[in-house]
Amino acid sequence: MSRPVVTAWPDPHGLADAVSGLLVTRLVTAQADRGHANVVLTGGSMGIATLAALARSPGRDSIDWSALDVWWGDERFVPVEDPDRNERQAHEALLDHVPVQPSRVHAMPARGAIAAGEDVHAAAAAYAAELARHAELEAHAPVPHFDVLLLGVGPDGHVASLFPHSPSLYDTRAVVGVESSPKPPPQRVSLTMPTIQTADEVWLIAAGEAKAPAVHLALSGAGPLAVPASVARGRTVTRWLVDRAAAAELPSELVRAASP
Ligand code: 6PG
Repeated sequence: MSRPVVTAWPDPHGLADAVSGLLVTRLVTAQADRGHANVVLTGGSMGIATLAALARSPGRDSIDWSALDVWWGDERFVPVEDPDRNERQAHEALLDHVPVQPSRVHAMPARGAIAAGEDVHAAAAAYAAELARHAELEAHAPVPHFDVLLLGVGPDGHVASLFPHSPSLYDTRAVVGVESSPKPPPQRVSLTMPTIQTADEVWLIAAGEAKAPAVHLALSGAGPLAVPASVARGRTVTRWLVDRAAAAELPSELVRAASP
C-alpha cells in the first residue's frame, strides 16, 4: 500500500477548490489512458463541498461525463427522498448539473427501495452484486477499477461508515450493512476496508480543528481498529488533503503547504 502524502491549504474553501481541480486532472488522465473512469464519492461536509467546487470549476467539462461511472463509499440507509442521502446531496451539488449517464450513477440502495421487508444487509449485498457486475481485472477483486476513491474523515477517525472498534472493520465482504452507526442515522451501507484498499488512489479530505486529533493519530501509527482512517490507502497513491486547522497537530515536516 502507498505511503500517505499530506498537503494542506489555508482554509476549507480553498481545500475544496483544490481537491476539485486535482479530481479533474485525475479523471481526465484516467479517461485518456483507459477510455473511461470510476470515481467513488463520499458524504459529509467536505465530500459535498468538493462536489460543489467541481460544479463551479472551469475545468469541469474537461471530464467526459458520458464515460464516468460514479459510485459511493457509503450511504445512509434512509428513504430515497430523505435529504440525508449522500446520493441526493451529490446530485444537488454536482450530478444534476453535469451530463452524467443515469445508468452510470450507481447509488447504494435506499430504505424501501429494495424488496419489501429487506434490510440494510440486503442493501449491502445488492450493492456488492452491482460492484461485481462491473468488476475489472485491474482491481484484483470483484469490484470496478476505482481510479480515485474520496473519503471524508470523522473526528473519531472513521472513514465511509467504518467506525472505530466496529464489527464492520473485520468484514471481508465487499460491502457491509452497518446497524448502529455512532454518527446518525444509525443504519448505513458501506464499502469495507478491503474494498477501499482496491482503489488505485485514495484521497482523504479533512478540514477544521475538530479533525486535527484524528488526522494526527491516523498519520502517526495508530492502529486500524482505533483509527480506521490510518489504513485507508490506495494501491498506488494515498493523499491526505487537509486545511491548516486539520493539520495543526502534524509535525511540520510531514505536511506540504500548498500555498503561503
Ligand atoms: C457520511 C460520510 C462520512 C463523512 C465523515 C466526515 O455518510 O457521513 O460518508 O464518512 O465523510 O463523517 O464528515 P464531515 O466532513 O461532515 O465531518
